[in-house]
Amino acid sequence: MLNLQIIKEPQAGQNLVVITGKSSCNQIPGLTEQESGYVQKSVDLGLKTIMINRYSQVIIIQILEYEKPRTELKEAARKTSYMIYSILKEQKITSFTVTEQNHDSELLLAFAEGFVLSDYSFTKYLNNKEEKSVPFQSLRLVIPSGNLPGLKSLHYCLEAVYLARDLVNEPVNYLTAVKLSEEIKQIARNSGFSVEVFDKLQIESLKMGGLLAVNMGSPEPPTFSIMEWKPVKAVNSRPIVLVGKGIVFDTGGLSLKPTPDSMDSMKSDMAGAAAVIGVMYAISKANLPLHVIGLVPATDNRPGGEACAPGDVITMHNGLSVEVLNTDAEGRLILADALSFAKKYEPELVIDIATLTGAAAAAIGQQGIVAMGNADDNVFAMLTDCGYQVYERIVRFPLWDEYSEMIKSDIADLKNIGGKYAGAITAGKFLERFTSYPWIHLDIAGSAFLKTGDSYRGKGATGSGLRILFELLKRIADIQH
Ligand code: BES
Ligand code: ZN
Ligand code: ZN
Repeated sequence: MLNLQIIKEPQAGQNLVVITGKSSCNQIPGLTEQESGYVQKSVDLGLKTIMINRYSQVIIIQILEYEKPRTELKEAARKTSYMIYSILKEQKITSFTVTEQNHDSELLLAFAEGFVLSDYSFTKYLNNKEEKSVPFQSLRLVIPSGNLPGLKSLHYCLEAVYLARDLVNEPVNYLTAVKLSEEIKQIARNSGFSVEVFDKLQIESLKMGGLLAVNMGSPEPPTFSIMEWKPVKAVNSRPIVLVGKGIVFDTGGLSLKPTPDSMDSMKSDMAGAAAVIGVMYAISKANLPLHVIGLVPATDNRPGGEACAPGDVITMHNGLSVEVLNTDAEGRLILADALSFAKKYEPELVIDIATLTGAAAAAIGQQGIVAMGNADDNVFAMLTDCGYQVYERIVRFPLWDEYSEMIKSDIADLKNIGGKYAGAITAGKFLERFTSYPWIHLDIAGSAFLKTGDSYRGKGATGSGLRILFELLKRIADIQH
């Protein structure tokens, strides 16, 4: 990850980005009269990004609309950052200074955030890494006081997004369930949270029938990873539990998926797990005074001689029986076991995050996260606000009673699919049956993996859900203080 530095004032000759509003674009210090005139003229013509090339130094003037609502202004700073990133990259510039007209630390942080997220790439399997990209060295943020609170926390959050994106971008021929648990242990060693990994035998003795059923067609064993961050000065007496769907590859099982635009991106089906792992990294690095537990049930979902067949009835960790009518609705089976396991912690709040349904993606596309749950409205309000702050916006779907009719089975307590409609909700209703505490479910099927790329969110893995969860946990730690 590139280096983020604070400097008190720009030094002569540094490549410079100046973020400013329309009305102050004629007051930029250090420009010649001719340059100032050029900037003013360009702004009058409606340009938003103006470049002054001094040959040994590039100056970019970026106009933002300061009258926008705060959250939108911050997002504009991130998106602008991506655009400027592309320009600088083309110019093969590897370090520069950014200054904002009001030395507004939030806007500078948003700019830095957008820039670092834009600079992510997954190059592990490329032979000509250097040719593909000249790495950025450093981004200097101008703050006259020399003090930028929030930079450290942002730094850890961005490292966490990089980690999560790497995990999601890894194909299953590297990242099996066992490998995922080993990666978790490695990340824990680098950041300070603790880990325990259950192997197949332990999963069997816990009677996690959902996780075991999904694993039946696989030559690889499942894992169940438990991460814990329990600082001595934790402000909560009962933990917050995060649960991430860890399907390292989803073929659909015997209910096999077609390959184009479907199975071909299913290495991303552990993006929920990646977000949880990333959040555990960020909170422990940032030393957040909050007791948090992360659970990751993991396996691939494959057809095979022993694979679970449509119509099979299985018994879950909490004793409920489930008729598996579609083996491609596997995420809810492994999450359900983890959710019922979470009960033993007597949690204050449980949040699960999963690439759970194509229906969620169909409903709201790639621009947001579908949320459901029975947690207090205040918690949803807080989550919604965090979503706008980091621009991982959430849309709440209902869990009305009537939907439970759709997952009734003729021969078992539940079936694992609903009907043609409300697919994201019937998945949520299924999970609800395994919860017994305040709970929120996040469906990131639309936002976790982008085939075509989108600004600073990048192409491939986005790290969806991580920044909003980190923001929420920071806020909960703050409030309970
Ligand atoms: N992993 C998929 C959901 C998914 C779809 C994630 C597209 C990301 C992008 C999930 O396991 C699945 O296959 N769900 C089925 C459920 C259906 C069979 C009830 C779906 O959404 O089609
Ligand atoms: Zn599936
Ligand atoms: Zn899946």
